[in-house]
Amino acid sequence: MEKSNGLRVILFPLPLQGCINPMFQLAKILLSRGFSITVIHTRFNAPKASSHPLFSFLEIQDGLSEAETRTHDVTLLLTRLNRSCESPFRDCLTKLLQSETEEEKQRISCLIDDSGWIFTQPLAQSLNLPRLVLNTYKVSFFVGHFVLPKLRRERYLLLQAEEFPPLRKKDLLRILGEETEVLDSYSDMILKTTKASSGLVFVSSCEELDEDSLSQARQEFQVPIFAIGPSHSYFPGSSSSLFRPDETCIQWLDKQEDNSVIYVSFGSVVTISESELLEIAWGLRNSGQPFLWVIRVGMVNGTKWVEAIPEELMERLTEKGKIVKWAPQQEVLKHRATGGFLTHNGWNSTVESVCEGVPMICLPSVWDQLLNARFVSDVWMVGLHLEGKIERNEIERVVRRLLLEHEGELVRERMKRLAEKVGRSVKQNGLAYRSLQHLVDYLSSF
Ligand code: UDX
Repeated sequence: MEKSNGLRVILFPLPLQGCINPMFQLAKILLSRGFSITVIHTRFNAPKASSHPLFSFLEIQDGLSEAETRTHDVTLLLTRLNRSCESPFRDCLTKLLQSETEEEKQRISCLIDDSGWIFTQPLAQSLNLPRLVLNTYKVSFFVGHFVLPKLRRERYLLLQAEEFPPLRKKDLLRILGEETEVLDSYSDMILKTTKASSGLVFVSSCEELDEDSLSQARQEFQVPIFAIGPSHSYFPGSSSSLFRPDETCIQWLDKQEDNSVIYVSFGSVVTISESELLEIAWGLRNSGQPFLWVIRVGMVNGTKWVEAIPEELMERLTEKGKIVKWAPQQEVLKHRATGGFLTHNGWNSTVESVCEGVPMICLPSVWDQLLNARFVSDVWMVGLHLEGKIERNEIERVVRRLLLEHEGELVRERMKRLAEKVGRSVKQNGLAYRSLQHLVDYLSSF
């Protein structure tokens, strides 16, 4: 770790697992480069301060009721949070800046927060504080999704859906069908506030994964853009889980053969129905392959955990498989026994899988996941796509194709090459590594 450079960075993560991990990874990188870190966070999904003794934490009231925090509607949750956090965040930041003038030894360099916070840009501007926007999506998605409101208004364009590769017409119809005016105006605000910011940091992208869209993003936003590559590569295994990972996964994996296990996880937000749960269960069981399956508490609509799986089926499942509530995902993907990842293609999961060279089975649910999945299956060709078919025979078949057949070997070979390419990017003199260096220089210049 470098010695302190006398500068403090304020971080303000969105309280979602997919946003907290990358933000804390960035925090660790900046700390190792001599910056001090203060994290302002909501009460809802508060990070564990005790896991990060070198950071300072300040909690703000988010005004959400218990029932409001349980919603599965992420857009609703984020718009509510933006409304209720504005005033407490302003008070907290103003106090921090005042204490800075009293304590001259450490200067606050800037605020870094998620693109999903739309009130922070005008606030930072009014306080004369540079604000950088952290982005946890794939660059192509971030750039592309701003055309969605227009597309939604001009639905006839759907006839030319082939103009949005690698999305297929059916993906676009799903994306456009999902959301409404609330999301459109939220997206418009994200675009506006990002353009007004002092810079844009992509923590899980690099030239190797996003070459075309990075140049497009530079044109569109006209602010410095940093693509520092898969941030967890700089500090492997350092996840900031909101849930407690079940560490017995690793002992269980130790007992399995190389590349034999299919790891199944749908991230921290996606939910499925009882019948989908049963189809996946039967598919995994019938594939005959060992599997490690994350079923979050509350993931299956209308039930608490796995009650919908009949006892007899559960007995058969546990002969070859293991079901947990939350896994140490990065360690699981790193394990020699893990041969494939049945995933919803959240961007973090996708990148973590790429970094460990684990080929995927794509089962995207919503939003950016549909685009990420197409990159995996159609552009990089490092995974097989289920095409939304949550059906036991399809699942059994795709698991066997990936783990047992020649087709799977070819996919694995291509994934290995992609993993090596991305791995080189975060090493000294790699493109992502150099971008990180530019970011550190930029933050030091404020
Ligand atoms: C959300 C959105 O759903 C996704 O579309 C977007 O790309 C990012 O924000 P989420 O659904 O949680 O994210 O998925 P993902 O991006 O894959 O992030 C999940 C994170 O939780 C990963 O870092 C993963 O390692 C971690 N995880 C997941 C665990 O540590 N253990 C688990 O059991 C499951």
